[in-house]
Amino acid sequence: MNARPMSADTSIPERWPTRLTELLGIRWPMLLGGMMWLSDARLVAAMVRAGGMGFLTARSSRTDGDFRQALHECRHLSGEQPFGVNLTLSRRGSGNDAMTTRLKIALQEGVRVFETAGLPPTELMPHFREAGAIVIHKCAHVRHALSAQAMGVNAVTLVGMEEGGHPGSNQLPTFLNGALALEQLRIPLALGGGIGHGRQIAAALALGADAVVMGSVFTSALETPAHDAYKQRVVATDAHGTRAVLGSLGDTWRVIDNENARKVAALEQAGARTHAEFGLLISGERTQALAYQAGQHEEGMLSMGPAVDFARAVEPVAKIIQRLQKECMQASTRFQRMLVQ
Ligand SMILES: Cc1cc2nc3c(=O)[nH]c(=O)nc-3n(C[C@H](O)[C@H](O)[C@H](O)COP(=O)(O)O)c2cc1C
Repeated sequence: MNARPMSADTSIPERWPTRLTELLGIRWPMLLGGMMWLSDARLVAAMVRAGGMGFLTARSSRTDGDFRQALHECRHLSGEQPFGVNLTLSRRGSGNDAMTTRLKIALQEGVRVFETAGLPPTELMPHFREAGAIVIHKCAHVRHALSAQAMGVNAVTLVGMEEGGHPGSNQLPTFLNGALALEQLRIPLALGGGIGHGRQIAAALALGADAVVMGSVFTSALETPAHDAYKQRVVATDAHGTRAVLGSLGDTWRVIDNENARKVAALEQAGARTHAEFGLLISGERTQALAYQAGQHEEGMLSMGPAVDFARAVEPVAKIIQRLQKECMQASTRFQRMLVQ
């Protein structure tokens, strides 16, 4: 793996304030987006303790009781600091009613920060408003960000086509999407997709964003609840090792280019146009059982974007955050020096 040179003398401030850090009460403008099956209590708490914000994925719990248990655990592991919950509303409609129930449970348990994704959170908005909760809606199109703003969300995350997971039908890269959005958005903006180095964080902040959202770069974190064989596969995957499939079904999914993804791509190429035709190849339960739990990394749909290139070791979240902070400071110092010359 490549060595990453770092200057020993870059001093890291205690916090980097932006509109989003102020809104969320966090120290650094770094968010760990919800990751299905992986964003459990331990991973989210590690992110919160490191000074950013993480989102427990409500869909990853099999029962409401399990979800409540995960919230208790996260609160305990975070040292009672605020943490977030991700509510993903499926474009295919499955399981969306359960998200309202999970939202109510999270509110009862004191959670006040939410990341919504997928469909617009229209039906959830009254619950957020009544509880005075903060909602960050994640979307892939500037026009969707603007309608979320009109709907009354507190902030938006805009992702580019580099995003690991479901970047939607958007074909624009993260930084272009961000620059376009900033011409029109008033509410705080987080940028996500392809970010895994601190210089990209400095660039996003210089662009005008209030935070970044990352996922892929944390998939090999020590706290990520997955088999070591999966993490070693992540570490061995470079920026060219992911592919987007299912675009022809209007459900683009960016994943590690493993044997399973190649079978999916071949079926799609051969004309498959309904989810049913892909059967177990695209089953989330199967991915969880075979790849994440048993370490069979050539099975399942392993959501991932090219930022995986920066996941170069199995290491604690705190260490990843320290690296990102240092790189971000080095890049911003360089930029500031250029301006005064
Ligand atoms: C393994 C994995 C699973 C993900 N699952 C979800 C999910 O369930 N809901 C969601 O809103 N986003 C999901 N995402 C997207 C992340 O929350 C985040 O937006 C994305 O990872 C940022 O782009 P990056 O992967 O290029 O860093 C997932 C991403 C990954 C890598």
